[in-house]
Amino acid sequence: MSKRIGILVGSLRKESFNKKIAKNLVEILDKKYSYEFIEIGDLPLYNEDIDQGNPPESYANFRNTLSSFDAFLFFTPEYNRSIPAVLKNALDVGSRPYGKSQWDGRPAAIVSVSPGAISAFGANHHLRQCLTFLNMPCLQQPEMYIGNVTKILDENGNINSDGTNELCKKFVQAFENWIEKF
Ligand code: FNR
Repeated sequence: MSKRIGILVGSLRKESFNKKIAKNLVEILDKKYSYEFIEIGDLPLYNEDIDQGNPPESYANFRNTLSSFDAFLFFTPEYNRSIPAVLKNALDVGSRPYGKSQWDGRPAAIVSVSPGAISAFGANHHLRQCLTFLNMPCLQQPEMYIGNVTKILDENGNINSDGTNELCKKFVQAFENWIEKF
């Protein structure tokens, strides 16, 4: 059966650069894979008090959705040199109840995107730290830092830089090889 890839984007913004880059990348995934963008904006902030016994429907649905994927591809902006709260919240919700984390053992990769020159390096590595703890084997090379993103997107949201397109192809190929190992 073809592997299913869950796409998580750490920005809720309609015109998010991360979403635009994500759309470019999923286009070049081999057609043998299926993928889905996973909604994370409607999850209440994680609170253990409401997660005893009967979890809120939104938490239960989210965990159920995560359980249907073989691998995850994360796109993250950088907020104050870390990952946006909405993405951390999704990681936290998916990681509970204790001992039943939906992330456990599933391969992953990270793309960080910023209009700034540092390419959301801080967010990329904070996210990597969380995924390490969550026991998600995370692709290490090639690293995917996309900086100065406004300069490489055309008015339709397509990447118009040959160098970046080449890197995207290499990254997607490496990610596909990576998820086949698990
Ligand atoms: C930012 N931004 C930002 N950029 C960056 O490169 N490093 C940073 O630490 C921050 N910090 C930060 C904090 C907050 C609260 C906001 C709202 C923004 C700018 C950020 O990269 C920019 O808004 C991107 O466009 C966000 O990504 P999306 O929404 O376009 O995907």
